[in-house]
Amino acid sequence: YYILTMGCQLNENDSEKLCGMVEEMGYKPTDDYKEADLVMFNTCCVRENAEDKLFGKLGELKRIKEQRGTIIAIGGCMMQEKHITDKIHESYSYTDIIFGTHTLQNFPEDLYNTMQSKKKMLDIMDIDGEVYEGLPIKRTSNIKASVTIMYGCNNFCTYCIVPYVRGRERSRKPEDIIKEVKQVVSEGVKEVMLLGQNVNSYGKTLEEPMSFAELLREVEKVEGLERIRFMTPHPKDLSDDLIEVMATSKKVCKHMHLPMQSGSSRLLKLMNRHYTKEQYVALAKKIQERIPGVSFTTDIIVGFPGETEEDFKETLDVVREVGFDSAYTYVYSKRSGTPAASMEDQVDKDVIKDRFDRLLALLKETSAKNCKKKVGDIERVLIEEENTHEEGMLTGRLENNLLVHFKGCKEQIGTMADVKLVEEKGFYYMGEQIHG
Ligand code: SAH
Ligand code: SF4
Ligand code: F3S
Repeated sequence: YYILTMGCQLNENDSEKLCGMVEEMGYKPTDDYKEADLVMFNTCCVRENAEDKLFGKLGELKRIKEQRGTIIAIGGCMMQEKHITDKIHESYSYTDIIFGTHTLQNFPEDLYNTMQSKKKMLDIMDIDGEVYEGLPIKRTSNIKASVTIMYGCNNFCTYCIVPYVRGRERSRKPEDIIKEVKQVVSEGVKEVMLLGQNVNSYGKTLEEPMSFAELLREVEKVEGLERIRFMTPHPKDLSDDLIEVMATSKKVCKHMHLPMQSGSSRLLKLMNRHYTKEQYVALAKKIQERIPGVSFTTDIIVGFPGETEEDFKETLDVVREVGFDSAYTYVYSKRSGTPAASMEDQVDKDVIKDRFDRLLALLKETSAKNCKKKVGDIERVLIEEENTHEEGMLTGRLENNLLVHFKGCKEQIGTMADVKLVEEKGFYYMGEQIHG
């Protein structure tokens, strides 16, 4: 089988489950779709350009399918959009299986039925799926593991399609999460990434409600686990308790990824984000004061409908004031069905390009400044791999997610080490291992 995953870490985690399921059916992985018997695409639709990419790939597959009868299965967020599945039926009708985000667990059955009946399968539910436990999983790393703690999103930011394709929020039970964490740790994993579209809403729908901060305290107790990361918290409901856990925990990495989207209170309101510029900055300051040295990253959208030069300057203001370590920056992409798609004053492409470049230039400054601050420090790192550029060198990840390259032997991969950051290279370091 061959799999191509688009989109976020939640989708990556779903793909790990797809791989786990088909490998239990006897499939073996290949990197070459031309020689695969089963090709799976796990799609994303958060931005528009992914559609062209998918249809391009499907076009390429037609001839290969004619030659060797490849089974083509497409799933993920984009398949929850009716205009997409309609287009596949019309123009790419040689696709065998279309499955949605709520029916992952049926995939082996869908695949089996397709093989038996040679009929096309469409397995999409509009209603919210339940939480399924115990699916097989084939993890991409044996050092770090992603653990989805909740599904869906209730926030309906006006630009975003995720709530429409992923359904309402539902949380996994803490005991199931802990069991999974214990399992991966027993297999050698040192770091877990807890995933959800808004982890601050974790636990609200449970029979026995529990907060995200409480969940972190439970995960922290797992022996042998070294590091905990999480994505994504929403600024509107980030609790003091969560800040406290990050400040005092030995395992929760002091790295806060807190999507801002815009620095303009006017736009934030139009985006339905439920916070103002001032509230965002105050929250960031509070976190930075309580957790000295915390690394701060964010998501920013440029060119939301109606964004003026003034609005954009407010975004630059916040970038300067908070001094982000890095940011994911996105050009606004119109998603049909979302409220923002029908807002007036869609911003001109050239204007967006100019703003985008200015934002990147400023972010380069703030991240370089932060990177310099740590030179000379001794940091605990997770050794992830051999450095491909130079023999005898290893690559480790700092708590703030940056990388450091240093001398060491490859038997150390997957363990923790203390490394002195000797030289900064803008967004990574060269270091020396401190032997205990
Ligand atoms: N749930 C997370 C992120 C989900 S999507 C959160 O709320 O932070 C990841 C990022 O994609 C978002 O933070 C946003 O910056 C970006 N994004 C979402 N929809 C977008 C759109 N229509 N156009 C451009 N960027 C978008
Ligand atoms: Fe989209 Fe907003 Fe939900 Fe994030 S919180 S997934 S941006 S609707
Ligand atoms: Fe994309 Fe779906 Fe994730 S739309 S960003 S893959 S939740």
